Amino acid sequence: MSASADRLTAARLLLRVEEGAFASRLLSGGGRPGVRARVLAVLRWRRRLDAATDPLLGARAGRLDPEVRVALRLGLVETAVLGSPAAVAVDGAVHLVRRLGKGSASGLVNAVLRRAVDAWNRLEENAPPDVLWSHPGWMYRRWCTAFGEDAAREIVRANQRPASVWVWWVRDAEDGGGAAPSLHVVEPHPWCPGAWRAPGDDALMAAEAAAGRAYVQDPASQLVAHLAVALAGKGSLLDLCAAPGGKAVLAARLGGWSEVIACDLSARRLALVRRLARLAGVEVDGVVADATRPAIRQGRAGLVALDAPCSGTGTLRRHPELRWRLDPGAIPERAGVQRRMIGAALGAVAPGGVLLYTTCSLEPEENEEHFEEVPPGFEIVDLVPFLPPGVPVVGTPAGGLRLYPADHWDGFGLHALRRVRWSGATTSRNAITDGDTGS
Ligand SMILES: C[S@@+](CC[C@H](N)C(=O)[O-])C[C@H]1O[C@@H](n2cnc3c(N)ncnc32)[C@H](O)[C@@H]1O
Repeated sequence: MSASADRLTAARLLLRVEEGAFASRLLSGGGRPGVRARVLAVLRWRRRLDAATDPLLGARAGRLDPEVRVALRLGLVETAVLGSPAAVAVDGAVHLVRRLGKGSASGLVNAVLRRAVDAWNRLEENAPPDVLWSHPGWMYRRWCTAFGEDAAREIVRANQRPASVWVWWVRDAEDGGGAAPSLHVVEPHPWCPGAWRAPGDDALMAAEAAAGRAYVQDPASQLVAHLAVALAGKGSLLDLCAAPGGKAVLAARLGGWSEVIACDLSARRLALVRRLARLAGVEVDGVVADATRPAIRQGRAGLVALDAPCSGTGTLRRHPELRWRLDPGAIPERAGVQRRMIGAALGAVAPGGVLLYTTCSLEPEENEEHFEEVPPGFEIVDLVPFLPPGVPVVGTPAGGLRLYPADHWDGFGLHALRRVRWSGATTSRNAITDGDTGS
């Protein structure tokens, strides 16, 4: 396929993302590198791309056809970010806008793109960090308030760098994950045991995953499984939001649990957990259940994992369009649901057992603010002694940990509570033992 075909495919995918599709789904399986790079770069740099072209468009900026906007973004990103010669990118965009049925705009695209690279470069001198590093202003300001300007700037920079595909070996993990013998080009993660990538060849890891030999999972997310094993590792593991199953199945591979119970509200997604468990050769019971309601076997799980649905603001490297979709009002809403889930999850923790609460959100409301008051009968667990060496975490004000996104991991929040006093199980309805096994 030629660059022009890649450009057209990328434009069509970007138009679908504008209508609400998820780029990660459209590009699942890897896709052609030329398509993937263009789509992700446009989604990542959208705000700065538009900040460079809008002044050149003048009043037309507000009423551009989506096809013309996409051609402009692709033309500029190819030169400014992906390093194509300007003449190739401009000609490509002019040709593209014709192929998208908007030939009448080809003169405009040509004229704007010829001046847009200079405008892009000038932003370096005078644009605020949220424009320069292409994030919504509200998001950057929120991170400045929560973490300080230096940390916020590091986060927005890290989010602009493409993320590698990291995997763990599904069938070869007894020792914590050795490389598959047929692969000579893989590299271990700096701190996550058993996490591997193929530098410069993400397609190779995508192919290993498609063949069922590897599972693609960000190292920060894999870390949760390692922590679960380090905190307990035997007895019963109850994962209340388990699908698609990376953490529960990896923990099942690594631990010596008496049982692993994986719950999720979605029966469709729970099927993915079962499939992964089969591939990995571990026993995991899948149960459809609502984590906002009292959980299975009150007071009997040694480790309750609650990897709560969240805003996902730690994952913007992999899901660049999320930043444009997220409504700030959704954060307190998600926090409300998480609070109900934590209340229900605590009831399932056995005496001496642990609730491990994690999110791939950076937001304090979705992480430490839930633990400002420690629930009666529990204490905060210091997670640092349980970490593999070298994990660059920072402490949260509630005694938990946060990872900021960086080149080789996503942002994550990690908090744990241990039950130190038992005052008896709650009497409320047991949502899981009364519920549907979803199989
Ligand atoms: C962050 S994902 C979990 C990822 C999973 N732990 C893993 O490692 O693959 C959150 C999950 O929560 C599930 N979920 C959302 N609302 C839920 C609810 N009320 N009860 C149980 N699961 C829920 C979603 O279906 C989704 O699979």
